Amino acid sequence: MAGALIIDGKARAQALRAEVAAGVERLKAARGVTPGLAVVLVGEDPASQIYVRNKAAATRAAGMLSLEYKLSADAAETALLALIGELNRRGDVHGILVQLPLPAHIDARKVIEAVDPAKDADGFHPLNAGQLASGGRAVVPCTPAGCLILLKSVRADLAGARAVVLGRSNIVGKPMAQLLLNENCTVTIAHSRTRDLPGLAREADILVAATGRAQMVKGSWIKPGAIVVDVGIQRVAAGEGKTRLVGDVAFAQAVEVAGAITPVPGGVGPMTIACLLQNTLEAATAAAGGR
Ligand code: GUN
Repeated sequence: MAGALIIDGKARAQALRAEVAAGVERLKAARGVTPGLAVVLVGEDPASQIYVRNKAAATRAAGMLSLEYKLSADAAETALLALIGELNRRGDVHGILVQLPLPAHIDARKVIEAVDPAKDADGFHPLNAGQLASGGRAVVPCTPAGCLILLKSVRADLAGARAVVLGRSNIVGKPMAQLLLNENCTVTIAHSRTRDLPGLAREADILVAATGRAQMVKGSWIKPGAIVVDVGIQRVAAGEGKTRLVGDVAFAQAVEVAGAITPVPGGVGPMTIACLLQNTLEAATAAAGGR
């Protein structure tokens, strides 16, 4: 019998998006301000094109202004930096997101640092990363923020839990670890050089998988009753020329062992966009003089 509670990220994200839309209406009524999010895509990466389209549609659905900028794959770094400078100055733009990855000839760090930290809808600027690490007022990266909401929907108080984060990216692994530490978890960040990954994962009351490796986490890696959050999303062959989406966790095995688990799709993915909208609303609210 499949014992795990399957965490409904789609429903939680819908609820958050509705909350954000209500907040947008309040801000418009109270201050006459419409939150604006600018999304910048460089190149034609098919996955990024889909993400950007979905982000723009969600932005409009929340009642916000959505601006989309598409630069060609060979656009100069200086052109991208000039665009960011312009967006930093615009009064109707409260959030800026540059879709990653960027083409190899562009220095992603330089681009991230060029975004005004107050408009950094992704929370990737080093000032926001530092604020998160030092317990200050940070814009929190969207994917880990969404993961934390899902975790807390199952276990409101995470204090004392052993948390293992698989993956150390700036986008997910590191900020996830900081958020869990802020929740008073005992946190371990594991990565490709970690010894005995299965053994370490089995110690976790909370296991967040963000490795980017399809179905890497087996049922035998999971402590019975653990909460498992799967950040991965990959398309794999499903026979007869068909494909299906899978995460970093071997779901069919994991669901037999875990206490609660996020599915793929319908888990973390929808939360990421909802948290992006929330970050944009918060930036617009702050720009309008706060609540
Ligand atoms: N590429 C993959 N995930 C993300 C994200 O959360 N933000 C941006 N800007 N690019 C990404």
